[in-house]
Amino acid sequence: MLYIRKITQSRAFKFAFVTFSLLATLLAILLYWILFVRVTNAGLTFENELRIPPEMKVRVNEDGVKVFDLSVEHGKMEFLSGQIAETLGVNGNYLGPTIRANRGDRVILNVSNYLKEDTTMHWHGMNVPAVMDGTPHQTISPGKMWTAEYEITQESGTMWYHPHTHGKTAVQVYHGLAGLFILDDENSKRIDIPDTYGDDDIPLIIQDRLFNEDGSLNYEIRRNASYGDTILVNGTYDPHVSLEARKIRFRILNGSNARIYWIGFDDEREFQQIATDGGFLDSPVDTTRVRIAPGERVEIVVDFSDGKDVILKSFPEAGLLETYSSWSAATTNGHFDLLEIRPQPASRNSHVIPKRLNRIARLERGSADVERTMAMGGMVINGKSMNMGRIDERIRLGDTEIWKIRNQTGRMHPFHVHLVQFLILDRNGRKPSAQESGWKDTVLVMPEERIDVIMKFDQHADPDVPYMYHCHILEHEDNGMMGQFVVVDE
Ligand code: C2O
Ligand code: CU
Ligand code: CU
Repeated sequence: MLYIRKITQSRAFKFAFVTFSLLATLLAILLYWILFVRVTNAGLTFENELRIPPEMKVRVNEDGVKVFDLSVEHGKMEFLSGQIAETLGVNGNYLGPTIRANRGDRVILNVSNYLKEDTTMHWHGMNVPAVMDGTPHQTISPGKMWTAEYEITQESGTMWYHPHTHGKTAVQVYHGLAGLFILDDENSKRIDIPDTYGDDDIPLIIQDRLFNEDGSLNYEIRRNASYGDTILVNGTYDPHVSLEARKIRFRILNGSNARIYWIGFDDEREFQQIATDGGFLDSPVDTTRVRIAPGERVEIVVDFSDGKDVILKSFPEAGLLETYSSWSAATTNGHFDLLEIRPQPASRNSHVIPKRLNRIARLERGSADVERTMAMGGMVINGKSMNMGRIDERIRLGDTEIWKIRNQTGRMHPFHVHLVQFLILDRNGRKPSAQESGWKDTVLVMPEERIDVIMKFDQHADPDVPYMYHCHILEHEDNGMMGQFVVVDE
């Protein structure tokens, strides 16, 4: 005892102890800073005015069908000032115009491929016949035009379009092929919410990108996906937007290949989430954060009537493993400034957002005809890699199905199903949060998580042409984390 006391009281020990504690504290601060604090795109000055994708021109033909023409083409963009990047776009240089249609409309979409390689155009989130779905089974060769024609049968919501080219979805989307497809219905037109596109109803397509020294886009796969250290919103780098100082609706699409965002404001203000992928929630949900994975959409309403400038941000809340992946792949921890909002004097009063937005017809667990397991492993689903010649699942027309989605990996994977919108029954045995209790077509499955979803397949039987389900991390999808199902009428 005496001996120990002597040592602990010796000057050398005290010195070593103090030095060690100091170093440990410094290391802890450094780690904390790297993982949670460091803003990799700090120094944003919000110089550039936010681009708003224009609404796509529509013509109504003699049969009353709304006709849209989409040209998939090469482009050039000045993302970073004075530097030019080679890009891809729809009817333009980067991204594409917003398509808009009503429930009950019949639409024709003429997609012309002006690239030197194959492409396709998929209507993500939309309930359409398999031959019109724009998957790798509807390839458009260079110089050719493909026409999709269908009726809009689903409720209002924010859908989107992007290529689904076999093995090349990731690189084509990365260079700019994506756009919004907004659906309206009687409910969306009746309820009193901001709905003037580009004025108080603002689309935000969020994408992370890597740039080369010369300002060109750098597409690189690291850690099995592409992560960027620079954010583009609607293809705008370093953006700001001037809006009226009242309630504004944002339709947010995570159009990134792999990155997940935890979105909120720098002053931690509360806002209302009003919609999920496939339509309005039953009621608005008050929150300070929305999590959004690639492929997902979220609609929020934010009150700017205090007139203060505020920054829309993404916070580093991915957990240690993902944060480490993001950091090692793109030297960022996911902490980004996204957009500065500069409120201007309002020309009218704010909308009073109704307490009731929708009446979602819940599907009960007991009503399911079939249960299937979807086990996500390393670049496989149920142990299989995508094969265009193989049908993995056959679904009977009219059936209600529960899919038990199981993430058996240590990484996050957003699981997407074509054709239908589903409801989450539970996440690891717990009811979904209010923010996730609406129609979804993509659900983020955390490492080792077990999610049950329920959906009804009541349209578009076709025994020959499959739909897809897949991970919406585009590099995972291209690498085989995808399967095929057909809907059959027996
Ligand atoms: Cu957003 Cu199968 O796609
Ligand atoms: Cu899809
Ligand atoms: Cu994945």
